[in-house]
Amino acid sequence: MAALTKSAVAVIRHTKRFLSTVPALRRLHYSIVNADLFENLFWHDVMLANSVRMEKYIQAMEKYVHPGTVVADLGTGSGVLACLAAKRGAKVYAIEHGAIIEHARTLARANGLSQNIEFVHAHSKDFNPPEKVDFIVHEQVGMALIDEDMAENVVELRDRVLKQGGKVLPGSFELFIDPVQTRDDRRLPYIWEQRIGGVDFSSLKPDALPWTSGKGYDKRALEPDDVSVILAHRNRVLELDLNAPGRPVIPEFVQYDTVIQQDGRLDGFCLYFSNFFDKELGFYTGPKDSRTHWACRLLRTEAREVKKGQHLHFEMRIPNVTNTATWTWDYKLS
Ligand SMILES: C[S@@+](CC[C@H](N)C(=O)[O-])C[C@H]1O[C@@H](n2cnc3c(N)ncnc32)[C@H](O)[C@@H]1O
Repeated sequence: MAALTKSAVAVIRHTKRFLSTVPALRRLHYSIVNADLFENLFWHDVMLANSVRMEKYIQAMEKYVHPGTVVADLGTGSGVLACLAAKRGAKVYAIEHGAIIEHARTLARANGLSQNIEFVHAHSKDFNPPEKVDFIVHEQVGMALIDEDMAENVVELRDRVLKQGGKVLPGSFELFIDPVQTRDDRRLPYIWEQRIGGVDFSSLKPDALPWTSGKGYDKRALEPDDVSVILAHRNRVLELDLNAPGRPVIPEFVQYDTVIQQDGRLDGFCLYFSNFFDKELGFYTGPKDSRTHWACRLLRTEAREVKKGQHLHFEMRIPNVTNTATWTWDYKLS
C-alpha cells in the first residue's frame, strides 16, 4: 500500500511538472483551477466588500454604459458587473466558465434584469456572439496583477468581438515593486535570522537563498499598516495597456534601478499595482493607498540596513505567469 501511494505521488508530481512545461497545457490546467476556485462564494464576498474596487466599477459604468450599449462581461462570477451594466440599459453577454454562473443567473432574475443579460456558460475563448460589442468589462486581476492570465484572456476576446472604437474596461495597469521596511512588531525574519533565548538559528541558512530559488516560501501578504517606510517610491516594472493594438507580451524578466530615498532597514520588496479605466478613473493598491482585497505582497529578503542615496538594482524572473511561486528576484545595493 505504501509503495502504491509512493508511485501515485510520483505520477502526480511528474504530471504536474509536465503540464507546467507546455504553455497550452499550463493554461488549460490553470483555467480548470481558476473555475473551481471561484465556485467558492468566499472570494465573491471578499471582492464585493472591496468598496474601492466596486465604487470605481460603478463610476466606469456611469461614464461609459448607456441604454443600448452592448457589453461582454468576461468572467461574470457573482454577476455583479453584468447586473450593473444591465441596470443602465445595456445588453449584456455574461460569460463564465465556472459553476458560479448559476448564482449570477439567480441574481439577475431576482433583480428583474434577466431580459437584458444573456448568460454564456463557457470559457471566453469559446464565446462567439452574433454581434460585436461596445465594451468588454472584466475583473481578471490577480493578487500579483498578471497572475490570473488577464492579458491573454482579455486580448483574445477583444480581437474577436470588440467593435472598432470599442474599449476594454479597465484597460490600463502598472505593476510596482518598492523596497520597504516593515513595522518592527510585524517583521517576519527568516528562520536563520532568529536568535531566541540564546539559541542561534544561523546554522539553518540554506546555500541557495529562497528568493533566488523559486520555492514559493519567500512571499507573504501584507496588511496595509505592516509597512512603516517605503524606501523608494513607485518603481514600475511593467505597464499593460489592453486597449493598445497587438498582443501584450508579459516579459519573463523585469528590472529597475533607483536610489534609496531615506535611511532604514530593507525587509523586502512590496508588490502592488494600479488599475485604470481611463486617465482619470482608477486606483492604486500600494501600502499607503486605500485598502483593497488585493493585499500587497512582500517579496521577502533578509533584513539589511540601507542609507539614503544608495543605488538599488532590482530584477525579477517570471517563468510561469500564473504561478507566482516560480517568480524569483534578486537585488544589488551599492
Ligand atoms: C476575479 S473574479 C471576478 C468576478 C466578477 N466579475 C466581479 O467583478 O466580482 C473572475 C471570474 O472570472 C471567471 N473566469 C476567469 N477566466 C475566465 C475565462 N477565460 N472565461 C470565462 N470565465 C472566466 C472566474 O471563474 C471568476 O468567476
